Amino acid sequence: MSVSAEARPAPAGAGDRAWLRALKGRFIVFDGADGSGKSTQFTRIMAMARGAGLAITEVRDPGGTRIGERIRDVLLDPEHEEMDMRCELMLYMASRAQLIAEHIRPALQRGELVLADRFLSSTLAYQGTAGGIPTSEIMDVARAALGHPDDPASTWPDLVVVFDVDEATAAKRLNPLLDRMERKSSEFHAKVRRGYLDQAESDPARYAVVDARPGEDEVTSSMVRVLRERFAPEA
Ligand code: TMP
Repeated sequence: MSVSAEARPAPAGAGDRAWLRALKGRFIVFDGADGSGKSTQFTRIMAMARGAGLAITEVRDPGGTRIGERIRDVLLDPEHEEMDMRCELMLYMASRAQLIAEHIRPALQRGELVLADRFLSSTLAYQGTAGGIPTSEIMDVARAALGHPDDPASTWPDLVVVFDVDEATAAKRLNPLLDRMERKSSEFHAKVRRGYLDQAESDPARYAVVDARPGEDEVTSSMVRVLRERFAPEA
């Protein structure tokens, strides 16, 4: 005798996964200072969302396309010490424009969940707060790459999750082979952290901050709490 779907017991963890469906069609960015552990959390949410049957497009910025990966190599090459901050800004944005055209916009049009490891928030923190380029100038370039925020076809994230960590903890988590950005001074990295926190403070509707100092599992719980609160408060 077959058992109806309603009568069948829910598979273990099904209740926990149902809320993930609220992420369908969203564009969520994971961001934070080098060594914040955001990429680990990024991998975990991706696995959870896939497990819940969601169609996902994952991207990393800079990079994620054939052209973008070449721009990434130019940006992170430790030999390019002379790179001007405005050149840096344009290259990060150029890589992003390609990423949007090739992957992000089409995926959002298909109604997929788009998860990005870094995005414009990194430019605002690294080239902006730490690098000294005024926010208004970065936003001018951003509008050229992402589209105007009021345009429904533009690609501004629904949420930026900032993984906040103190510098000492971040330094311990870094691979000893530092790239050009990671080699910058500790003063620069302190400003990067401040940059993220300032963004979150000034735009609480689009940002959420997760304390990334504890162990990975605890950080995952905080990240899940944040996403549930934002996208599935009833679940
Ligand atoms: P990743 O190794 O986390 O992918 O990031 C590459 C480096 O580039 C990292 O040090 C942060 C930096 N970065 C910027 O300075 N500006 C940006 O817009 C982005 C996306 C990354």
